[in-house]
Amino acid sequence: MSPVSSSPDALRIPVITIDGPTASGKGTIAQRVADHLGWHALDSGALYRLTALALQRAGGDGQDEALAARLARALDVRFQGERILMGGQDVAGLIRHEAVGNLASEVAALPAVRAALLERQRDFRQAPGLVADGRDMGSVVFPDADLKIFLDADVEIRAHRRHKQLSGKGISANLDDLLSDLRARDARDRGRAHAPLVAAAGAITIDSSRLGIDDVVQQVLGLWSARGPA
Ligand code: DC
Repeated sequence: MSPVSSSPDALRIPVITIDGPTASGKGTIAQRVADHLGWHALDSGALYRLTALALQRAGGDGQDEALAARLARALDVRFQGERILMGGQDVAGLIRHEAVGNLASEVAALPAVRAALLERQRDFRQAPGLVADGRDMGSVVFPDADLKIFLDADVEIRAHRRHKQLSGKGISANLDDLLSDLRARDARDRGRAHAPLVAAAGAITIDSSRLGIDDVVQQVLGLWSARGPA
């Protein structure tokens, strides 16, 4: 993919950002909004998860900032629909494991890793538009986004959703462990010094605790069409 983010044209490509805590449903919602609009989607969390997987395979841990940043810069990744190819191997299932997610949250706190992934994320800004989901899409990566959503939900509800999602994929998980992992990850994502999880300036908060996915997708599309083209 060619780097287009710094050209004046790239600035005219519309972006919708959807940030929020883990398991808030933002990935599914971002993909559906993108499909509806015929736009590209960026699952930025996948890049942190891929970095974590590469680090795990290299025998490193969350303290190894230089190695993690080097691996992040060198990630050989291709997104093909549901498939995520790293070095030619489909790792879409592997990166969803909780151990990888927890290590992703650790590497995401490392400034050199965030710097290594910044331009790579901006390169996803391609015509006709991009829906990007993550933690800092509206605050750091695409501060000029046309519409910024902050998607929140109660932690217990998110733990139940994650449990259901993992069981659906045949990955066994204990609900209490998931709940404490989510709480720890929330604390780390919100408390870190670099690009913490926050509602970006101008973001509209949607609490999805009592909303279905379709309701949230409709709300986002409604906000987009109410806003109109730039
Ligand atoms: O959205 P996710 O659970 O797949 O993200 C995995 C981890 O990556 C999450 O714990 C925090 C980190 N992350 C981040 O720091 N910034 C982003 N834009 C996306 C994810």
